[in-house]
Amino acid sequence: MNVLLLGSGGREHALAWKLAQSPNLTKLFASPGNPGIAEHAEIVEIKDGDHRGTIDFCLKNSIELVVIGPEAPLVDGLADNLRTMGFPVFGPDKEAAQLEGSKGFTKDLCAEAGIPTARYARFTSAEAALPGLKEFGLPVVIKADGLAAGKGVIIAETAEAATEAVEGMFDGDFGKAGAEIVIEEFLEGEEASFFALVDGETVLPFGSAQDHKRVGEGDTGLNTGGMGAYSPAPILDDATTKRVMAEIVQPTVETLARRGTPYNGVLFAGLMLTESGPQLIEYNVRFGDPECQVLMMRLEDDLLALMAATAEGRLAELGAPKLASQSAMTVVMAAKGYPGTPETGGKIGGIDKAEAQGAKIFHAGTSEDDGQLVASGGRVLNVTALGDTLQAARDGAYAAIEKIDFADGFFRGDIGWRELERS
Ligand code: AMP
Ligand code: GLY
Repeated sequence: MNVLLLGSGGREHALAWKLAQSPNLTKLFASPGNPGIAEHAEIVEIKDGDHRGTIDFCLKNSIELVVIGPEAPLVDGLADNLRTMGFPVFGPDKEAAQLEGSKGFTKDLCAEAGIPTARYARFTSAEAALPGLKEFGLPVVIKADGLAAGKGVIIAETAEAATEAVEGMFDGDFGKAGAEIVIEEFLEGEEASFFALVDGETVLPFGSAQDHKRVGEGDTGLNTGGMGAYSPAPILDDATTKRVMAEIVQPTVETLARRGTPYNGVLFAGLMLTESGPQLIEYNVRFGDPECQVLMMRLEDDLLALMAATAEGRLAELGAPKLASQSAMTVVMAAKGYPGTPETGGKIGGIDKAEAQGAKIFHAGTSEDDGQLVASGGRVLNVTALGDTLQAARDGAYAAIEKIDFADGFFRGDIGWRELERS
């Protein structure tokens, strides 16, 4: 099978690494890719957002499956255009991708399907939203409706902060994403992520993970795309997972199918485990980054077979993806300055030495400069290890970090702390 993989982060390196292990793979192409992905794929140049160019490439290279890694092209309707041309795609069409593209869309769907989630209201102007704040206590959660690279959520502790957040959003703090907002009740509990493959109708659970969104140790400082993750998340035990499937994921998939806009791809549910049970915080229409890296580390099945079956609506023929009972942890090495403006160009060495100990180093923001590997983004490397216990996985990941030379980088030393304290 010839496969085209779109994306350039650690998530896509993990997908490329796993796809390359499939006996069914003939040739893997990737765009825009990165030096890690290049170890498994031919890097090709397809302009970002160029749907016609993507289709032309697929026609010329007899592509039999397109895997779309990030959310932006999905929300932009790339999957629709590829499917119209007859190409199987792993990733939802534009309408179903609204689950991530519009927070209000997801909240309305939850209301329609009776899915447990925080009480909410949608607003299109500050004049309407400011009085609306009174319907909620404190803290209150204010969200830009559209895609804001994970940054469009403000948890306001005071009425003044809430007013400021609402006004800021309508003043364009998050660009177009904030032209509409959602105000939500604050939920108390612990967060966890749950993944499922969906082929329109059939849903197969793809495991759990927990990530660390704050840049600093002890979960302090600014929000990031994620500084580290581990899988499984033991807090999502079998009973809770059953509830998540029955009360959240299945009704979502059924509602979208009933509307004539079925979901296809991986559905990533961000959950709050509250005293009254799991509630949906948000959906993403792709694998998490860096959650994907730990899931791929544990996946024992053929990823290509799973993705092709998803794209072709054949998941009912398969069992749930088999994941190792071991734990995996990934620690993000970021460039100094992240999540603000990262210092790019910092030299990276020692990856071979780190991998010689059994860890896997996924490239996120790297590039090659005259044969030297350098940092080219905020999150640079994902140092990932498997172990019989979470502690063993943690020890493996941090031992590998010791071998990596990246003077301009930093990482959190406490990934997994909550779970490690519990165990
Ligand atoms: P989101 O982009 O919707 O996942 O929100 C980013 C983060 O904000 C989440 O991971 C939570 O930590 C927090 N958050 C979002 N909505 C709520 C809520 N209703 N109650 C408490 N925390 C929330
Ligand atoms: N790590 C969180 C996300 O991918 O959205």
